Amino acid sequence: MLFDFAKLAVQDQYKLLVSTVVPRPIAWVVTLDLEGRLNAAPYSFFNALSSNPPVICIGIGGRKPGDIKDTGNNIRATGQFVVNLVSAATAEQMNITAIDFGPEVNEISEAGLTTLPSHHVKPPRIAESPVALECERLQIVELNSDRAIVMGRVLAIHVRDDAVMDPERCYIDTPALDLVGRMHGAGWYTKTTDRFEMKRIDAAAWKK
Ligand SMILES: Cc1cc2nc3c(=O)[nH]c(=O)nc-3n(C[C@H](O)[C@H](O)[C@H](O)COP(=O)(O)O)c2cc1C
Repeated sequence: MLFDFAKLAVQDQYKLLVSTVVPRPIAWVVTLDLEGRLNAAPYSFFNALSSNPPVICIGIGGRKPGDIKDTGNNIRATGQFVVNLVSAATAEQMNITAIDFGPEVNEISEAGLTTLPSHHVKPPRIAESPVALECERLQIVELNSDRAIVMGRVLAIHVRDDAVMDPERCYIDTPALDLVGRMHGAGWYTKTTDRFEMKRIDAAAWKK
């Protein structure tokens, strides 16, 4: 069946995208506002899109014109943020930080989480998260008055020690991170435990 986006309501475009483009990794973004107040929220319009330069992107939909949620507004104002990744063990806490709190509420303590200082940027990282990417704003693409894509340059990455197999060669035990992804609807997620391996084929091997 064809769904022509030119004929669809905005909410239906959203439904079709989020129920088909799955699983999506979740950026659990920590920012500070100009008064130094801490903010955390999950964003699954998210991925790593370049390694040279190292760039991640986050899609933020605001609640009213000019607004791109506390996360986007803080990145606009300060230029710094930390993207933490979400493990199965922290999924419920991530969900608490998605509650529509005002900017005065610290979602990190609301969810019973703790933080550790970052190396390059002011916002801290979530201590319970197995991976954290320290980022600085590269560009914000304003799609319309309340939707923007934040592009961030990755300055450093923290990986929980037990998941680092060989630091010299940057070998990571990815399954040990036990990350989750967002699926369809308002509340479906997936674990990353159902894996299969498929080796790349070079042109010479294919011809044979
Ligand atoms: C798993 C998950 C993924 C989400 N992804 C997005 C997203 O990609 N874009 C967005 O605008 N909101 C997303 N949300 C909703 C925001 O997390 C929510 O609006 C939050 O209150 C924003 O907080 P902030 O104003 O502190 O940034 C998501 C929520 C959940 C639970």
